[in-house]
Amino acid sequence: MSETATITIEGKEFVYPVIHGTEGEKAIDLRKLRGDSGYITYDDGYGNTGSCLSEITFINGEVGILRHRGIPIEELAENASFLNTAFLVIYGHLPGKEEYETFSNSIGSNASVPGDFSHHFSGFPNDAHPMAVLSAMLNAIGCYHGKLTSNNREQELEHFYKAASLLISKVRTIAAMTYRMRKDLPFVEPREDLGYVENFLHMMFHGEKEDYQPSAEEAHALDLFLLLHADHEQNCSTSTVRMVSSGGANLFASVSSGVSALWGPLHGGANTAVVKMLQSIHDSGDDGSQFIEAAKSGKARLMGFGHRVYKNYDPRAKILGGAAEKLMANMGHSDPLLDIARHLEKAALEDEYFIQRKLYPNVDFYSGLILKAIGIPVEMFTVMFAIGRMPGWIANWHELATTSSRIHRPRQIYTGKTDQHYVPVKDR
Ligand code: SDX
Repeated sequence: MSETATITIEGKEFVYPVIHGTEGEKAIDLRKLRGDSGYITYDDGYGNTGSCLSEITFINGEVGILRHRGIPIEELAENASFLNTAFLVIYGHLPGKEEYETFSNSIGSNASVPGDFSHHFSGFPNDAHPMAVLSAMLNAIGCYHGKLTSNNREQELEHFYKAASLLISKVRTIAAMTYRMRKDLPFVEPREDLGYVENFLHMMFHGEKEDYQPSAEEAHALDLFLLLHADHEQNCSTSTVRMVSSGGANLFASVSSGVSALWGPLHGGANTAVVKMLQSIHDSGDDGSQFIEAAKSGKARLMGFGHRVYKNYDPRAKILGGAAEKLMANMGHSDPLLDIARHLEKAALEDEYFIQRKLYPNVDFYSGLILKAIGIPVEMFTVMFAIGRMPGWIANWHELATTSSRIHRPRQIYTGKTDQHYVPVKDR
């Protein structure tokens, strides 16, 4: 007999089915609650609400597990590339040799943008925030691909592979063009003979740094950074992508909204906030101890710490912390901000305030130090998060597009004024 949950409302019992996930998660299926009882649920911030069934990513926040299509993030970080992981997240399996070559070639051949596209950049002030530019440009690039942005779902699904490859490729080009725009440098054409991150770094720094060639260590560290950001179930920006997609909007419009949602300092903007926090701690001569006290008293927030789901160590933070140390050792340079980060981590993990609230380092705590070591400016850090998260947004758009037809439209409890009437301006 299938499991049920009983809710008693005003003396009447309502029985609802319990849904079981493949990893043992349980949910009460309340889709009929309002029709049965006139009641809705209230869950500020959706901390207890499942918005969908999904096969893409599983997180167990209590023990710090993250898997993409069932494969642990640690195994992917150790053995896969960003593009391998992107394919897995989007298409549901690791690509075979031929599949990978086709996918990689489709991305390599989609890196350039139309000739007149670069004019869009001249409409932005040079100090425009890169996330504002990226969000706008993702819709702008969609204007050159009518079949992929028709809002005719059947047609878009027919061309989905092309749209996915185009976005994964061009998000990188747009990011590099934004960097060059901000520095008043000429744009650099992509090269089809370079790998995914090598091409990005080429478009960013070619000609700016004498005989620039990214080292293998830098390229590997950036590829790992992107891999670790590929997807993370129903986070703020991915839920936004699904929300926008549920209205029938095309993939480009949906990921553009994901960029806007990611921008905030509590979400993807945290990697920028962490490095600015570490820099200000360093400049003040504090080793982090004073800052910890400020965070505990609510006068400051320890950016890069805490998570709605992880109540244990974010496995991505563990990997990124090690990768930051390895990169700096390989590059032969140290960063005092890494020492401060390590001190903050140690102090926080031993402090009752953080232990009681189960606050651990999250993906943003060490990630910015890798980008900083590679020479990517802090204003671009959240754009780098968006490049990494593109496959996850694409996969969630596709999953919704192929499994659900209901528009996402939450209810609310109205708490405003009741029964008012219009008052002519002479009587106000
Ligand atoms: C990402 O959802 C995802 O999966 C996101 C992400 C992804 O891959 O997509 O993992 C990426 O966004 C990671 C999170 C990056 N943000 C930060 O690092 C910003 C700092 N963290 C916090 O603002 C906070 O922890 C959140 C936003 C991440 C989570 O917020 P919640 O779940 O709403 O928790 P809360 O704000 O209700 O905090 C619970 C308690 C509060 O104290 P009390 O009111 O109980 O006394 O913990 C405290 C908070 O004050 N707290 C912190 C803290 N985070 C929470 N205190 C100090 N420093 C912090 N960082």
